[in-house]
Amino acid sequence: MAADTGPGAWNTFIEGDNLDVLATLDAGSVDLVYADPPYNTGNDFAYRDRFGAHEAWAAMMRPRMQAVHRVLAPRGALFVSIDDNEAAHLRLLLDEVFGEENFLAQVVVNLNAKGRQLGRGFATSHEYVLVYARDARTCALDASSADTVDEADFPLSADDGRRFRHLPLRNTNKKFNPLTTPTLHYPLYGDPDSGRVSVSPFPGSVEVLPVFGDGRPAVWRWSPPLVHERPDDVVCRIVRGRAGNRVDVFQRDWLHRDGGRRKKLHTIWLSEEIGSTDTAVAELKDLVGHVFESPKPTGLLRRIVATMPPDSVVLDPFAGSGTTGHAVALLNAADGGTRRCISVNSAEPTREGSNARLAGLATVADITRARLAAVAERVGGGLVNHRISGDPDVRDPLLPVVGRRNGGKPGEPPVIR
Ligand SMILES: C[S@@+](CC[C@H](N)C(=O)[O-])C[C@H]1O[C@@H](n2cnc3c(N)ncnc32)[C@H](O)[C@@H]1O
Repeated sequence: MAADTGPGAWNTFIEGDNLDVLATLDAGSVDLVYADPPYNTGNDFAYRDRFGAHEAWAAMMRPRMQAVHRVLAPRGALFVSIDDNEAAHLRLLLDEVFGEENFLAQVVVNLNAKGRQLGRGFATSHEYVLVYARDARTCALDASSADTVDEADFPLSADDGRRFRHLPLRNTNKKFNPLTTPTLHYPLYGDPDSGRVSVSPFPGSVEVLPVFGDGRPAVWRWSPPLVHERPDDVVCRIVRGRAGNRVDVFQRDWLHRDGGRRKKLHTIWLSEEIGSTDTAVAELKDLVGHVFESPKPTGLLRRIVATMPPDSVVLDPFAGSGTTGHAVALLNAADGGTRRCISVNSAEPTREGSNARLAGLATVADITRARLAAVAERVGGGLVNHRISGDPDVRDPLLPVVGRRNGGKPGEPPVIR
Protein backbone atom coordinates (compact mmCIF):
# COMPACT_ATOMS: atom_id res chain seq x y z
CA MET A 1 0.00 0.00 0.00
CA ALA A 2 1.31 3.44 -0.89
CA ALA A 3 2.30 5.63 2.03
CA ASP A 4 -0.13 8.44 1.36
CA THR A 5 -3.33 7.43 3.14
CA GLY A 6 -3.81 10.76 4.90
CA PRO A 7 -6.78 13.10 4.80
CA GLY A 8 -5.94 14.00 1.23
CA ALA A 9 -5.99 10.39 -0.03
CA TRP A 10 -7.15 10.43 -3.64
CA ASN A 11 -9.22 7.28 -3.28
CA THR A 12 -11.74 6.10 -0.71
CA PHE A 13 -13.61 2.83 -1.05
CA ILE A 14 -16.80 2.07 0.86
CA GLU A 15 -18.24 -1.43 0.79
CA GLY A 16 -22.01 -1.37 1.18
CA ASP A 17 -25.31 -0.75 -0.56
CA ASN A 18 -25.00 2.64 -2.21
CA LEU A 19 -28.39 3.73 -0.82
CA ASP A 20 -27.07 3.29 2.73
CA VAL A 21 -23.79 4.99 1.87
CA LEU A 22 -25.45 7.94 0.12
CA ALA A 23 -27.55 8.53 3.24
CA THR A 24 -24.36 9.13 5.25
CA LEU A 25 -22.93 11.77 2.89
CA ASP A 26 -23.62 15.45 3.54
CA ALA A 27 -26.00 17.30 1.22
CA GLY A 28 -24.07 19.24 -1.43
CA SER A 29 -20.73 17.57 -0.62
CA VAL A 30 -20.01 15.98 -4.03
CA ASP A 31 -19.15 17.71 -7.32
CA LEU A 32 -19.34 14.87 -9.81
CA VAL A 33 -21.21 11.59 -9.77
CA TYR A 34 -20.48 8.91 -12.35
CA ALA A 35 -22.97 6.03 -12.16
CA ASP A 36 -22.74 2.82 -14.16
CA PRO A 37 -25.68 0.80 -12.80
CA PRO A 38 -26.56 -2.76 -13.83
CA TYR A 39 -28.08 -2.42 -17.32
CA ASN A 40 -31.06 -4.72 -16.84
CA THR A 41 -30.04 -7.07 -19.63
CA GLY A 42 -31.71 -9.95 -17.84
CA ASN A 43 -28.34 -11.40 -16.85
CA ASP A 44 -26.78 -8.93 -14.49
CA PHE A 45 -29.84 -7.56 -12.78
CA ALA A 46 -31.76 -9.43 -10.13
CA TYR A 47 -35.16 -8.68 -11.64
CA ARG A 48 -35.49 -11.12 -14.50
CA ASP A 49 -39.23 -11.03 -14.90
CA ARG A 50 -39.45 -9.25 -18.30
CA PHE A 51 -42.99 -8.14 -17.53
CA GLY A 52 -42.28 -5.93 -14.61
CA ALA A 53 -38.59 -5.59 -15.38
CA HIS A 54 -38.53 -1.88 -16.28
CA GLU A 55 -40.65 -1.00 -13.25
CA ALA A 56 -38.44 -3.03 -10.95
CA TRP A 57 -35.31 -1.44 -12.42
CA ALA A 58 -36.74 2.07 -12.07
CA ALA A 59 -37.81 1.26 -8.50
CA MET A 60 -34.19 0.37 -7.74
CA MET A 61 -32.85 3.50 -9.46
CA ARG A 62 -35.34 6.19 -8.33
CA PRO A 63 -34.34 6.46 -4.64
CA ARG A 64 -30.65 6.23 -5.61
CA MET A 65 -30.89 9.04 -8.15
CA GLN A 66 -32.84 11.12 -5.60
CA ALA A 67 -30.05 10.52 -3.06
CA VAL A 68 -27.44 11.43 -5.70
CA HIS A 69 -29.35 14.67 -6.38
CA ARG A 70 -29.23 15.48 -2.65
CA VAL A 71 -25.45 15.00 -2.28
CA LEU A 72 -24.54 17.02 -5.39
CA ALA A 73 -23.18 20.53 -4.85
CA PRO A 74 -24.66 23.50 -6.74
CA ARG A 75 -21.71 23.31 -9.15
CA GLY A 76 -22.16 19.55 -9.52
CA ALA A 77 -23.03 17.25 -12.42
CA LEU A 78 -24.17 13.66 -12.94
CA PHE A 79 -23.02 11.27 -15.71
CA VAL A 80 -24.84 7.93 -16.03
CA SER A 81 -23.88 5.10 -18.38
CA ILE A 82 -26.79 3.16 -19.85
CA ASP A 83 -27.65 1.03 -22.88
CA ASP A 84 -30.79 0.77 -25.01
CA ASN A 85 -32.59 -1.47 -22.51
CA GLU A 86 -33.21 1.37 -20.08
CA ALA A 87 -32.02 4.58 -21.82
CA ALA A 88 -35.56 5.88 -22.42
CA HIS A 89 -36.75 5.03 -18.91
CA LEU A 90 -33.66 6.51 -17.30
CA ARG A 91 -34.00 9.74 -19.29
CA LEU A 92 -37.57 10.18 -18.03
CA LEU A 93 -36.58 9.28 -14.49
CA LEU A 94 -33.73 11.82 -14.49
CA ASP A 95 -35.94 14.49 -16.07
CA GLU A 96 -38.26 13.91 -13.11
CA VAL A 97 -35.55 13.95 -10.42
CA PHE A 98 -33.19 16.63 -11.86
CA GLY A 99 -35.63 18.63 -13.99
CA GLU A 100 -35.64 18.72 -17.81
CA GLU A 101 -33.98 22.14 -17.70
CA ASN A 102 -30.89 20.51 -16.20
CA PHE A 103 -30.44 17.95 -18.98
CA LEU A 104 -27.09 18.66 -20.69
CA ALA A 105 -26.47 15.81 -23.15
CA GLN A 106 -27.12 12.22 -24.19
CA VAL A 107 -23.66 11.23 -25.39
CA VAL A 108 -23.25 8.23 -27.70
CA VAL A 109 -20.28 6.20 -26.51
CA ASN A 110 -18.76 3.77 -29.02
CA LEU A 111 -17.28 1.19 -26.67
CA ASN A 112 -17.46 -1.80 -29.00
CA ALA A 113 -16.14 -0.76 -32.41
CA LYS A 114 -16.71 -4.21 -33.97
CA GLY A 115 -20.31 -4.26 -32.81
CA ARG A 116 -21.99 -6.99 -30.82
CA GLN A 117 -21.89 -10.14 -32.95
CA LEU A 118 -24.06 -12.35 -30.74
CA GLY A 119 -27.78 -12.84 -31.33
CA ARG A 120 -29.91 -11.44 -34.15
CA GLY A 121 -30.40 -7.93 -35.48
CA PHE A 122 -28.01 -5.01 -35.51
CA ALA A 123 -24.40 -5.22 -34.36
CA THR A 124 -24.80 -2.70 -31.56
CA SER A 125 -21.56 -0.78 -31.12
CA HIS A 126 -22.58 1.99 -28.74
CA GLU A 127 -24.22 2.84 -25.47
CA TYR A 128 -25.00 6.19 -23.86
CA VAL A 129 -23.90 8.54 -21.13
CA LEU A 130 -26.70 10.82 -19.88
CA VAL A 131 -25.44 14.10 -18.45
CA TYR A 132 -27.40 16.31 -16.04
CA ALA A 133 -26.44 19.40 -14.06
CA ARG A 134 -27.54 19.68 -10.44
CA ASP A 135 -28.42 23.21 -11.50
CA ALA A 136 -27.63 24.27 -15.08
CA ARG A 137 -27.17 27.93 -13.98
CA THR A 138 -24.42 27.20 -11.46
CA CYS A 139 -22.88 24.00 -12.85
CA ALA A 140 -19.08 24.08 -13.25
CA LEU A 141 -19.02 21.54 -16.09
CA ASP A 142 -16.86 22.69 -18.99
CA ALA A 143 -17.74 20.67 -22.08
CA SER A 144 -14.64 21.69 -23.98
CA SER A 145 -11.08 20.43 -23.97
CA ALA A 146 -8.44 22.58 -22.33
CA ASP A 147 -6.34 22.80 -25.50
CA THR A 148 -5.62 26.48 -26.01
CA VAL A 149 -2.74 26.07 -28.40
CA ASP A 150 -1.15 27.94 -31.26
CA GLU A 151 -0.85 26.03 -34.56
CA ALA A 152 2.68 27.36 -35.01
CA ASP A 153 3.68 25.45 -31.88
CA PHE A 154 3.21 22.16 -33.76
CA PRO A 155 6.12 22.09 -36.23
CA LEU A 156 6.25 18.33 -36.91
CA SER A 157 4.00 16.22 -39.12
CA ALA A 158 3.26 12.50 -39.20
CA ASP A 159 3.04 10.41 -42.40
CA ASP A 160 -0.70 11.04 -42.55
CA GLY A 161 -0.17 14.81 -42.38
CA ARG A 162 -1.33 15.33 -38.81
CA ARG A 163 0.76 17.96 -37.02
CA PHE A 164 2.34 17.38 -33.63
CA ARG A 165 5.06 18.59 -31.30
CA HIS A 166 7.38 16.88 -28.83
CA LEU A 167 6.78 17.52 -25.14
CA PRO A 168 9.12 16.09 -22.51
CA LEU A 169 7.48 13.05 -20.93
CA ARG A 170 9.31 14.02 -17.77
CA ASN A 171 7.38 16.27 -15.38
CA THR A 172 9.20 19.62 -15.56
CA ASN A 173 7.48 20.92 -12.42
CA LYS A 174 10.12 20.77 -9.67
CA LYS A 175 7.35 20.08 -7.11
CA PHE A 176 7.22 16.53 -8.45
CA ASN A 177 10.25 14.36 -7.79
CA PRO A 178 10.94 10.77 -6.70
CA LEU A 179 10.29 11.72 -3.06
CA THR A 180 6.89 13.35 -3.64
CA THR A 181 5.73 11.00 -6.42
CA PRO A 182 7.73 7.75 -6.15
CA THR A 183 5.36 5.74 -8.35
CA LEU A 184 6.15 7.91 -11.37
CA HIS A 185 9.90 7.42 -11.05
CA TYR A 186 10.53 4.24 -13.05
CA PRO A 187 12.69 3.21 -16.00
CA LEU A 188 11.39 3.28 -19.56
CA TYR A 189 13.14 1.50 -22.42
CA GLY A 190 13.71 3.22 -25.73
CA ASP A 191 15.51 2.92 -29.03
CA PRO A 192 16.53 6.38 -30.36
CA ASP A 193 17.00 4.93 -33.87
CA SER A 194 13.46 3.60 -34.30
CA GLY A 195 11.93 5.94 -31.70
CA ARG A 196 10.15 2.98 -30.04
CA VAL A 197 9.41 3.23 -26.29
CA SER A 198 8.25 0.44 -23.97
CA VAL A 199 7.78 -0.17 -20.26
CA SER A 200 9.93 -3.31 -20.59
CA PRO A 201 13.30 -3.91 -22.29
CA PHE A 202 13.38 -5.02 -25.96
CA PRO A 203 16.28 -5.75 -28.34
CA GLY A 204 18.19 -2.55 -29.11
CA SER A 205 16.63 -0.59 -26.25
CA VAL A 206 18.42 1.40 -23.57
CA GLU A 207 17.11 2.19 -20.11
CA VAL A 208 15.91 5.80 -19.70
CA LEU A 209 15.25 7.35 -16.29
CA PRO A 210 13.59 10.78 -15.91
CA VAL A 211 16.09 13.53 -14.99
CA PHE A 212 15.97 17.31 -14.73
CA GLY A 213 18.25 19.42 -16.95
CA ASP A 214 20.86 19.53 -14.17
CA GLY A 215 20.89 15.74 -13.90
CA ARG A 216 18.86 15.45 -10.70
CA PRO A 217 16.26 12.62 -10.66
CA ALA A 218 12.78 13.60 -11.86
CA VAL A 219 9.51 11.73 -12.50
CA TRP A 220 7.48 10.97 -15.64
CA ARG A 221 4.09 12.57 -16.27
CA TRP A 222 2.56 9.27 -17.39
CA SER A 223 2.10 6.07 -15.41
CA PRO A 224 3.39 2.78 -16.87
CA PRO A 225 -0.14 1.67 -17.93
CA LEU A 226 -0.63 4.92 -19.82
CA VAL A 227 2.69 4.53 -21.65
CA HIS A 228 1.73 0.93 -22.38
CA GLU A 229 -1.69 2.00 -23.71
CA ARG A 230 -0.42 4.75 -26.00
CA PRO A 231 2.82 3.47 -27.62
CA ASP A 232 2.30 5.71 -30.67
CA ASP A 233 2.16 8.84 -28.56
CA VAL A 234 5.63 8.44 -27.04
CA VAL A 235 8.97 8.60 -28.83
CA CYS A 236 12.60 8.05 -27.86
CA ARG A 237 15.17 10.61 -29.13
CA ILE A 238 18.74 11.75 -28.53
CA VAL A 239 18.85 15.29 -27.14
CA ARG A 240 21.72 17.65 -26.48
CA GLY A 241 21.89 18.28 -22.73
CA ARG A 242 24.19 20.40 -20.60
CA ALA A 243 26.44 17.39 -20.07
CA GLY A 244 26.46 16.29 -23.74
CA ASN A 245 24.08 14.07 -25.67
CA ARG A 246 21.58 11.92 -23.80
CA VAL A 247 18.62 9.69 -24.63
CA ASP A 248 15.21 10.97 -23.52
CA VAL A 249 11.53 10.16 -23.98
CA PHE A 250 8.98 12.61 -25.39
CA GLN A 251 5.24 12.73 -25.76
CA ARG A 252 3.90 13.23 -29.28
CA ASP A 253 1.39 16.00 -28.62
CA TRP A 254 -1.09 16.25 -31.51
CA LEU A 255 -2.61 19.42 -32.86
CA HIS A 256 -6.38 19.12 -32.91
CA ARG A 257 -7.99 20.24 -36.13
CA ASP A 258 -9.21 23.47 -34.58
CA GLY A 259 -6.11 24.01 -32.47
CA GLY A 260 -5.70 27.45 -31.01
CA ARG A 261 -9.25 27.48 -29.71
CA ARG A 262 -10.86 25.49 -26.97
CA LYS A 263 -12.34 22.41 -28.50
CA LYS A 264 -15.95 21.62 -27.65
CA LEU A 265 -16.59 17.96 -26.86
CA HIS A 266 -18.83 16.30 -29.42
CA THR A 267 -21.76 14.13 -28.38
CA ILE A 268 -20.30 11.05 -30.09
CA TRP A 269 -17.24 9.65 -28.34
CA LEU A 270 -15.28 7.16 -30.42
CA SER A 271 -13.38 4.19 -29.05
CA GLU A 272 -10.20 5.53 -30.71
CA GLU A 273 -10.50 8.54 -28.38
CA ILE A 274 -11.66 6.97 -25.13
CA GLY A 275 -10.84 3.25 -25.36
CA SER A 276 -13.20 0.30 -25.62
CA THR A 277 -14.47 -2.55 -23.47
CA ASP A 278 -11.52 -4.60 -24.81
CA THR A 279 -8.92 -2.01 -23.79
CA ALA A 280 -10.71 -1.68 -20.43
CA VAL A 281 -10.35 -5.43 -19.83
CA ALA A 282 -6.64 -5.13 -20.72
CA GLU A 283 -6.17 -2.22 -18.29
CA LEU A 284 -7.78 -4.20 -15.48
CA LYS A 285 -5.84 -7.34 -16.40
CA ASP A 286 -2.61 -5.40 -16.17
CA LEU A 287 -3.41 -4.36 -12.59
CA VAL A 288 -5.26 -7.29 -11.01
CA GLY A 289 -6.21 -9.82 -13.71
CA HIS A 290 -9.21 -10.58 -15.92
CA VAL A 291 -11.58 -10.52 -12.95
CA PHE A 292 -14.52 -8.38 -14.15
CA GLU A 293 -16.55 -8.81 -17.33
CA SER A 294 -17.50 -5.33 -18.48
CA PRO A 295 -15.31 -2.61 -17.00
CA LYS A 296 -15.27 0.85 -18.52
CA PRO A 297 -12.03 2.17 -20.08
CA THR A 298 -10.17 4.78 -18.01
CA GLY A 299 -10.19 6.97 -21.16
CA LEU A 300 -13.97 7.38 -20.83
CA LEU A 301 -13.68 8.29 -17.16
CA ARG A 302 -10.70 10.58 -17.70
CA ARG A 303 -12.73 12.53 -20.26
CA ILE A 304 -15.75 12.74 -17.92
CA VAL A 305 -13.74 13.74 -14.84
CA ALA A 306 -11.76 16.34 -16.84
CA THR A 307 -14.98 18.28 -17.57
CA MET A 308 -15.07 19.26 -13.88
CA PRO A 309 -12.60 21.37 -11.80
CA PRO A 310 -9.35 19.66 -10.72
CA ASP A 311 -10.31 19.88 -7.02
CA SER A 312 -13.59 18.02 -7.49
CA VAL A 313 -14.98 15.42 -5.11
CA VAL A 314 -16.05 12.52 -7.32
CA LEU A 315 -18.48 9.75 -6.34
CA ASP A 316 -19.03 6.43 -8.12
CA PRO A 317 -21.92 4.62 -6.40
CA PHE A 318 -21.68 1.53 -8.70
CA ALA A 319 -17.89 1.24 -8.74
CA GLY A 320 -17.50 -2.35 -10.03
CA SER A 321 -13.84 -2.81 -10.89
CA GLY A 322 -12.96 0.74 -9.70
CA THR A 323 -12.34 2.44 -13.06
CA THR A 324 -13.40 5.89 -11.81
CA GLY A 325 -10.94 5.84 -8.93
CA HIS A 326 -8.23 4.70 -11.33
CA ALA A 327 -9.00 7.56 -13.75
CA VAL A 328 -9.01 10.12 -10.93
CA ALA A 329 -5.54 8.97 -9.83
CA LEU A 330 -4.21 9.09 -13.42
CA LEU A 331 -5.56 12.63 -13.89
CA ASN A 332 -4.18 13.87 -10.56
CA ALA A 333 -0.79 12.35 -11.40
CA ALA A 334 -0.84 13.97 -14.83
CA ASP A 335 -1.98 17.50 -13.95
CA GLY A 336 -1.24 17.92 -10.22
CA GLY A 337 -4.98 18.04 -9.42
CA THR A 338 -6.42 17.39 -5.95
CA ARG A 339 -9.50 15.43 -6.97
CA ARG A 340 -10.81 12.88 -4.51
CA CYS A 341 -12.91 9.89 -5.41
CA ILE A 342 -15.35 7.89 -3.28
CA SER A 343 -16.10 4.50 -4.82
CA VAL A 344 -18.96 2.38 -3.50
CA ASN A 345 -19.82 -1.23 -4.24
CA SER A 346 -21.91 -3.82 -2.47
CA ALA A 347 -20.46 -7.16 -1.36
CA GLU A 348 -22.18 -8.91 -4.28
CA PRO A 349 -20.68 -12.42 -4.49
CA THR A 350 -18.59 -13.18 -7.58
CA ARG A 351 -19.72 -16.10 -9.70
CA GLU A 352 -18.68 -19.59 -8.62
CA GLY A 353 -15.84 -20.75 -10.87
CA SER A 354 -15.21 -17.24 -12.30
CA ASN A 355 -11.69 -15.83 -12.69
CA ALA A 356 -12.40 -13.52 -9.76
CA ARG A 357 -13.44 -16.38 -7.48
CA LEU A 358 -10.44 -18.44 -8.55
CA ALA A 359 -8.22 -15.46 -7.73
CA GLY A 360 -9.65 -15.43 -4.19
CA LEU A 361 -11.93 -12.43 -4.77
CA ALA A 362 -15.19 -13.58 -3.18
CA THR A 363 -17.17 -10.37 -3.76
CA VAL A 364 -17.21 -7.50 -6.26
CA ALA A 365 -16.14 -5.26 -3.35
CA ASP A 366 -12.99 -7.40 -3.11
CA ILE A 367 -12.34 -6.64 -6.80
CA THR A 368 -12.82 -2.88 -6.30
CA ARG A 369 -10.48 -2.89 -3.31
CA ALA A 370 -7.84 -4.95 -5.14
CA ARG A 371 -7.81 -2.57 -8.12
CA LEU A 372 -7.75 0.62 -6.05
CA ALA A 373 -4.95 -0.79 -3.87
CA ALA A 374 -2.97 -1.58 -7.06
CA VAL A 375 -3.67 1.95 -8.34
CA ALA A 376 -2.41 3.47 -5.07
CA GLU A 377 0.69 1.33 -5.44
CA ARG A 378 1.37 2.13 -9.08
CA VAL A 379 -0.03 5.62 -9.66
CA GLY A 380 -0.06 6.99 -6.11
CA GLY A 381 -2.52 8.93 -3.98
CA GLY A 382 -3.28 6.32 -1.33
CA LEU A 383 -6.49 4.46 -0.49
CA VAL A 384 -8.81 4.58 2.51
CA ASN A 385 -11.20 1.64 3.01
CA HIS A 386 -14.52 1.54 4.85
CA ARG A 387 -17.31 -0.95 5.19
CA ILE A 388 -20.84 -0.19 6.31
CA SER A 389 -23.94 -2.30 6.61
CA GLY A 390 -27.59 -1.33 6.24
CA ASP A 391 -28.04 -1.51 9.98
CA PRO A 392 -27.73 2.11 11.25
CA ASP A 393 -26.29 0.82 14.55
CA VAL A 394 -23.15 -0.49 12.86
CA ARG A 395 -22.67 2.45 10.53
CA ASP A 396 -19.27 4.10 10.73
CA PRO A 397 -20.05 7.50 12.33
CA LEU A 398 -17.08 9.15 10.61
CA LEU A 399 -18.13 8.25 7.09
CA PRO A 400 -19.21 11.71 5.94
CA VAL A 401 -15.59 12.83 6.13
CA VAL A 402 -14.25 12.24 2.67
CA GLY A 403 -10.79 10.72 2.53
CA ARG A 404 -10.71 10.41 6.32
CA ARG A 405 -7.39 9.41 7.79
CA ASN A 406 -7.30 5.82 8.98
CA GLY A 407 -6.33 6.74 12.45
CA GLY A 408 -3.04 5.17 11.47
CA LYS A 409 0.32 6.66 10.69
CA PRO A 410 1.48 7.42 7.17
CA GLY A 411 2.72 4.22 5.63
CA GLU A 412 0.33 1.98 7.55
CA PRO A 413 -2.06 -0.01 5.41
CA PRO A 414 -5.66 1.22 5.48
CA VAL A 415 -7.92 -0.42 8.04
CA ILE A 416 -10.75 -2.46 6.64
CA ARG A 417 -13.67 -2.42 9.06
C1 LIG B 1 -22.04 -2.19 -14.49
S1 LIG B 1 -21.14 -2.50 -13.04
C2 LIG B 1 -20.05 -1.12 -12.93
C3 LIG B 1 -18.76 -1.28 -13.69
C4 LIG B 1 -17.77 -0.19 -13.47
N1 LIG B 1 -18.16 1.07 -14.08
C5 LIG B 1 -16.38 -0.56 -14.01
O1 LIG B 1 -15.82 0.15 -14.81
O2 LIG B 1 -15.88 -1.62 -13.59
C6 LIG B 1 -22.32 -2.20 -11.77
C7 LIG B 1 -21.82 -2.49 -10.36
O3 LIG B 1 -22.78 -2.03 -9.42
C8 LIG B 1 -22.76 -2.90 -8.28
N2 LIG B 1 -24.05 -2.68 -7.59
C9 LIG B 1 -25.30 -3.05 -8.01
N3 LIG B 1 -26.23 -2.63 -7.13
C10 LIG B 1 -25.56 -1.97 -6.13
C11 LIG B 1 -25.98 -1.30 -4.94
N4 LIG B 1 -27.27 -1.21 -4.61
N5 LIG B 1 -25.03 -0.75 -4.15
C12 LIG B 1 -23.72 -0.82 -4.48
N6 LIG B 1 -23.26 -1.43 -5.60
C13 LIG B 1 -24.18 -2.00 -6.41
C14 LIG B 1 -22.56 -4.27 -8.88
O4 LIG B 1 -21.96 -5.14 -7.93
C15 LIG B 1 -21.61 -3.96 -10.05
O5 LIG B 1 -20.28 -4.11 -9.64
